[in-house]
Amino acid sequence: MQPLNVLYISIEGNTRNFVKNLTRYAAEQHAQNPDLPELNAKEVSEQTDFDDLDKDYFCFVPTYLDGGDGVNSGVKELMTNVCGEYIAYHQNASHLIGVVGSGNRNFNLQYCLTARRYAYMFKAPFIADYELRGVPADEVRIYDALVKRAEEVASAE
Ligand SMILES: Cc1cc2nc3c(=O)[nH]c(=O)nc-3n(C[C@H](O)[C@H](O)[C@H](O)COP(=O)(O)O)c2cc1C
Repeated sequence: MQPLNVLYISIEGNTRNFVKNLTRYAAEQHAQNPDLPELNAKEVSEQTDFDDLDKDYFCFVPTYLDGGDGVNSGVKELMTNVCGEYIAYHQNASHLIGVVGSGNRNFNLQYCLTARRYAYMFKAPFIADYELRGVPADEVRIYDALVKRAEEVASAE
């Protein structure tokens, strides 16, 4: 299977840390069974020049919001906006095949809301969520979800 491509943004390092662990976990799976995909991750920041993304990819985005709950009242995305702008650039949204959200459950209805908003805006499924830096069980669960979704997309092509 082709490597899983991941585009992510991380303001305080939690998402970067989780994606690093997930990349290592994927490499271990691939070493044991070459049919299982490795993971190629690309970090987006305010300094990133936008490129045309021509391969299918997943987006990992944490949540930073100001204001309402996104249901009864609007919210304003903070800090992570450049990630959404990158996806919206040229045709990049057409290759987005899933969104993984992270956040903190203390935020209740706003938990992982940026990822859910991206899934809605860019018409890609919301694949999974995890809290903060994640735990090893999240690596297994999210890797499996990415592989399942990539297989689904491949079989539909
Ligand atoms: C100012 C601020 C606002 C946040 N707002 C939310 C939120 O609305 N919903 C949520 O689920 N998590 C929220 N979080 C938690 C972050 O999404 C969480 O800490 C995440 O792991 C940060 O990822 P990063 O370290 O990769 O930037 C907020 C954190 C901060 C510091």
